[in-house]
Amino acid sequence: MSTKTVEEHPETKPQWWKEATFYQIYPASFKDSNNDGWGDINGIRSKLDYLKDLGITAIWISPFYDSPQKDMGYDIANYEKVWPKYGKNEDIFNLIKEAHNKGMKILVDLVVNHCSDQHAWFKESRSSKTNSKRNWFYWRKPKGYTANGTPIPPNNWRSYFGGSAWKYDSKTKEFYLHLFAEGQPDLNWENINCRAAIFDSAVGFWLRHGVDGFRIDVAFLYSKTMTMPDAPLSNPKDDYQPSDPYTANGARIHEFHKLMHHYMLSQIDDGRTIMTVGEIGSAGMDARLSYTSEKSQELSEIFTFKHTDVGTSQSFIYDLLPFTLKDWKLAVADSFRWINGTDSWATVYFENHDRARSVSRFGDDSTITSRVASAKLLCSLLISLTGTMYIYQGQELGSINFKGWPVEDYEDVEVRNNYKILCKKFGKDSSEVLKFKNALSVISRDHARTPIPWSSKGLTGGFSDSAKPWFKMNEVYKEGINVEDELDDPNSVLNFWKRAIRFRKENKDILVYGYNFDFYDLDNPDYFAFTKQYANKRFFGIFSFSGKDVKFKFPDDRKYTIFFGTHKNTDGAADILKPWEGRLYFVSASK
Ligand code: GLC
Ligand code: CA
Repeated sequence: MSTKTVEEHPETKPQWWKEATFYQIYPASFKDSNNDGWGDINGIRSKLDYLKDLGITAIWISPFYDSPQKDMGYDIANYEKVWPKYGKNEDIFNLIKEAHNKGMKILVDLVVNHCSDQHAWFKESRSSKTNSKRNWFYWRKPKGYTANGTPIPPNNWRSYFGGSAWKYDSKTKEFYLHLFAEGQPDLNWENINCRAAIFDSAVGFWLRHGVDGFRIDVAFLYSKTMTMPDAPLSNPKDDYQPSDPYTANGARIHEFHKLMHHYMLSQIDDGRTIMTVGEIGSAGMDARLSYTSEKSQELSEIFTFKHTDVGTSQSFIYDLLPFTLKDWKLAVADSFRWINGTDSWATVYFENHDRARSVSRFGDDSTITSRVASAKLLCSLLISLTGTMYIYQGQELGSINFKGWPVEDYEDVEVRNNYKILCKKFGKDSSEVLKFKNALSVISRDHARTPIPWSSKGLTGGFSDSAKPWFKMNEVYKEGINVEDELDDPNSVLNFWKRAIRFRKENKDILVYGYNFDFYDLDNPDYFAFTKQYANKRFFGIFSFSGKDVKFKFPDDRKYTIFFGTHKNTDGAADILKPWEGRLYFVSASK
């Protein structure tokens, strides 16, 4: 890399984790090795070669720890133990070693805003008001009592999964705070002993077992306003209100991350470089820079949500709003554009276990042709963007949302809680509930959580042998969306991903590290186009989001040489894009 580039664009300083190709695994749904209907650690091990062949260099595994599974393992009862259905500790230690032997890094999920109500820490805390761990969680007295004696929560904060964020515990007649499900009490980061225990158990244990870093769950929520005032009214239809002004990116959050980062470094004794990616959602420029600046020593990079949340309401995600391609273009660019010329770094991704399938959301899954074409288009766009690239399991197959499932078939605690609350408040057949059900078919987290089909065969497409999977299969595995069929078909989405990943690596200077991103024809409703550069290289990418032919003009009369694209044998000089066509060009420096 040229030193000039690094001086003027410190963000381009090379690091393994900036140029890694990450793949996220959701263990319950990846591969069941012992035919009990649940994916497991040995199932992951059996597919390492598949991932290697795809071009993956780093794997992030969603929680596999001991848990009552109230929120699919994001409710952890023991940070140092694998959930028995997923295997034994030995299995994950072996997985880490085997991945390392194959040249792949392993990231584990660090869920420390909250733990499970079945964690020993919480059991102790709840046992009495004078227990030494009482203050490891947030306990508050009722605000008062209703006429019939029901205790009133300390404030109006809403749980992310619906209803009050407070749960009354009759044992000590106080409420505890849970920003997520009732079974996920928030840990009190203000308490130094609590922090030390989190560091040793959730962080140190895994670093000492060789992981290469952490994906940090809701990393923006640890610093609450301790007076805990009522939140402003932002959703008049709800009895409870989003607590963000008093919980998101709070006063001590950067201090907490610095402490944790410092602790992490203290646990590394073999010289390896670790990385962290924090789930931040939304944060202002100052907060983003503080989280990720190399100098401030908090996180390596962050996930923001603007582009995955486009078209949803901030006060209630299941209130869908209309959006345009322009809105989405701006939202996508918002995830990485801010690092230009800084010493920060960003991520680029279209899917994870909390969002619906990107083809259904931003492409067109209505016919096989449009589904395949738009999956390749989204892939070609993603590999063109600056930042660490993350792929979510099944995305490489061009997976789509399931269709027409009744609400009873959904699994997610967020769906079930909100559904119950809405039915109670508005009635089962109300327009509110109908609207909610429609929104589920578009954005529910469950679309990303169905088991991965490894073939078109049998009742589970090779996910399990003969067992019934813990969650229904998305029926489309019989129609070509599965690993085996796609490996066999040179024109499949999967084989396109392989070529695209290889291509991104071969051109990592401009594709991964390129800077000075600039939209071209931002207002255009049919395509997403931009330029960027790296040292003396210039890039132009144009990606059609239309099912029809679209005409465009090249930005200027320099020489545009096509070097990759969705359509084979395309004439790079042609000024008409085919439906869902994406093209990547080098631009000559002079006219
Ligand atoms: C994060 C996780 C999500 C989980 C929540 C609570 O947003 O990605 O799956 O439900 O945190 O831990
Ligand atoms: Ca299993």
